[in-house]
Amino acid sequence: MGKAEGAAKEWHGHVTALTVAPSYRRLGLAKIMMDELERVSQDVYDGYFVDLFVRVSNLLAIGMYRGMGYSVYRRVVEYYSGGADEIAEDAFGMCFFFLSLSLSLSRYCDIDEIISPYFFLVFVWKTREQNLV
Ligand SMILES: CC(C)(COP(=O)(O)OP(=O)(O)OC[C@H]1O[C@@H](n2cnc3c(N)ncnc32)[C@H](O)[C@@H]1OP(=O)(O)O)[C@@H](O)C(=O)NCCC(=O)NCCS
Repeated sequence: MGKAEGAAKEWHGHVTALTVAPSYRRLGLAKIMMDELERVSQDVYDGYFVDLFVRVSNLLAIGMYRGMGYSVYRRVVEYYSGGADEIAEDAFGMCFFFLSLSLSLSRYCDIDEIISPYFFLVFVWKTREQNLV
């Protein structure tokens, strides 16, 4: 389940929930659904990226999203508040920018102004990820 949300340069696809029935796992269904959400977010809704939240303890899903090209960009304390008998848990925010990021940004400024900041942002992004996980 997903949606398009945000405004202006923050306009993006968001993974609300992704679950596959246990007996149908490891068949590539999650990958198919993520590919489709990314396609719709980019081609239909003209978004800049896709993001999602995942429990910090869900190493399987974090590894899966990493394999799909997503990076951790922030940690949200007690994002999952938990019920009466549950302990609250932090979430990682993960994000995947479309390859056409430069082209998308070119709507707003010259391509020459994009290249250096783009690589700087990738560097900061990767550094933050290493510090968070
Ligand atoms: C996470 C989940 C959605 C994966 O669904 P799936 O249909 O089995 O995933 P896929 O078959 O598309 O796998 C895609 C890739 O993820 C990784 N992956 C998925 N399940 C894995 C597992 N059990 N162990 C190791 N890697 C796994 C693999 O790299 C896999 O690619 P590969 O099969 O080519 O090696 C499913 O396990 C699930 O519903 N889990 C419970 C809910 C959940 O955690 N959702 C995510 C919360 S944000």
